[in-house]
Amino acid sequence: MDKIVVHGGRKLTGSVRIGGAKNAALPILVSSLLTDGWCTYHNVPNLRDIESIKQLLIHLGAEVETHDHTIRINAAGLANHEAPYDLVRKMRASILVLCPLVARLKKARVSLPGGCAIGARPINFHLKGLTLLGAEIDLEHGYVNASAEKLLGNEIYFDIPSVTGTENLLMAAVLAEGITILRNAAREPEVVALIDVLNQMGAKIEGAGTSILTVQGVKTLQPVSVSIIPDRIETGTFMVAAALTNGNIQIQGGEPEHVTGIIHKLRQTGADVSIEGKTIYVKGSETIQSIDIKTLPYPGFPTDMQAQFMVLMSVAGGLSIISETIFENRFIHVSELKRLGADITISGNTAMIKGVPSLSGAPVMATDLRASASLILAGLIAKGTTEVNRIYHLDRGYEAIEKKFQKLGADIERIQ
Ligand code: EPZ
Repeated sequence: MDKIVVHGGRKLTGSVRIGGAKNAALPILVSSLLTDGWCTYHNVPNLRDIESIKQLLIHLGAEVETHDHTIRINAAGLANHEAPYDLVRKMRASILVLCPLVARLKKARVSLPGGCAIGARPINFHLKGLTLLGAEIDLEHGYVNASAEKLLGNEIYFDIPSVTGTENLLMAAVLAEGITILRNAAREPEVVALIDVLNQMGAKIEGAGTSILTVQGVKTLQPVSVSIIPDRIETGTFMVAAALTNGNIQIQGGEPEHVTGIIHKLRQTGADVSIEGKTIYVKGSETIQSIDIKTLPYPGFPTDMQAQFMVLMSVAGGLSIISETIFENRFIHVSELKRLGADITISGNTAMIKGVPSLSGAPVMATDLRASASLILAGLIAKGTTEVNRIYHLDRGYEAIEKKFQKLGADIERIQ
């Protein structure tokens, strides 16, 4: 198993280029199932999760070609309506094929994704919404069996603005007969990116970026050629790395508009963040101020940045309160950070972080994607050597992150 070894203490300087967003690429690649022609997707990140979704689409009968960061998909040969457990368990976002399969093949048999390290991750909103659009759904032997002779528009309300719930149901509504209204829908940039692609395919969706989406169903959709938006969480991860190491970096290829919450919170810690066009400049400060964070649906502070910010607060000058309101178990990184000397107390979904003068390197274990990124960040500043094990979690969502940190001057390497 690969591991990453970091020797702390280097300031990061120079420039880094952001890749395509994993959480935009996943639903957009799946949307190719909604049409029967060659769709071309540029700026697709080279990640384990992207490999997983490609395998699933091939299993369903689509043709998939990969040319560096461009992927071409043709679902004309879509024939198999079953997404098996051994493919879905590798990546729970595979549930996104459920609605496109019902829309195209009138039926789907998709393994229930099950939970993961950060929470139970139920899909009740996906299933309730699809039922409201006219599908018959039953659960047996760990599978969702869904079928619908015809999908009919309806009003759907999300108790919580679910990101993949909104994306899944949009991909059913676009080919349903009549009007569908999604209320309390997710507003994440990745949802907006999917809506843009669907509308370029001929869909009629209004309200992108707001919590009320109105979809006028159409008969067919056309193939497209599009580019994936930049990854705002990768962007935020490098911004925190610059502040942590009192460095001075330029971030190219990102979308500043998508990280305004992260920019404001980082400025409150004392970092100097400025923007010129699409380039973000982050300069650390000698002392880091302790601030409070509460994760919320977009445009609130992203839960996918919570672990990274916790590392920054662990060496800040006072007491910081971090509340995780999205997932019920997203503090797994805390026990590993405490092994590195952080002073953190958890009570329910709230963590209290008392800043310490420095962390000290040690072997640690990654448990989920963003937690593994936070352990790398901690290693950048910890005294001595930090060894991060089980970094397959990291490779799910970050493309060659150690190479990008090396280029910025970090003393970091991957050991096979
Ligand atoms: C997406 O997960 C992202 N994944 C997650 O990123 C991200 O953390 C999350 O949104 C929140 O922003 C992808 O886009 C592939 P939700 P998703 O449905 O859609 C509850 C990463 O690191 N809920 O918005 O699964 C759920 O339990 C990953 O890249 C239900 O109760 O998240 C959670 O508490 C991790 N029933 C809340 O809603 C449902 O049917 C938000 O979940 C669906 C969700």
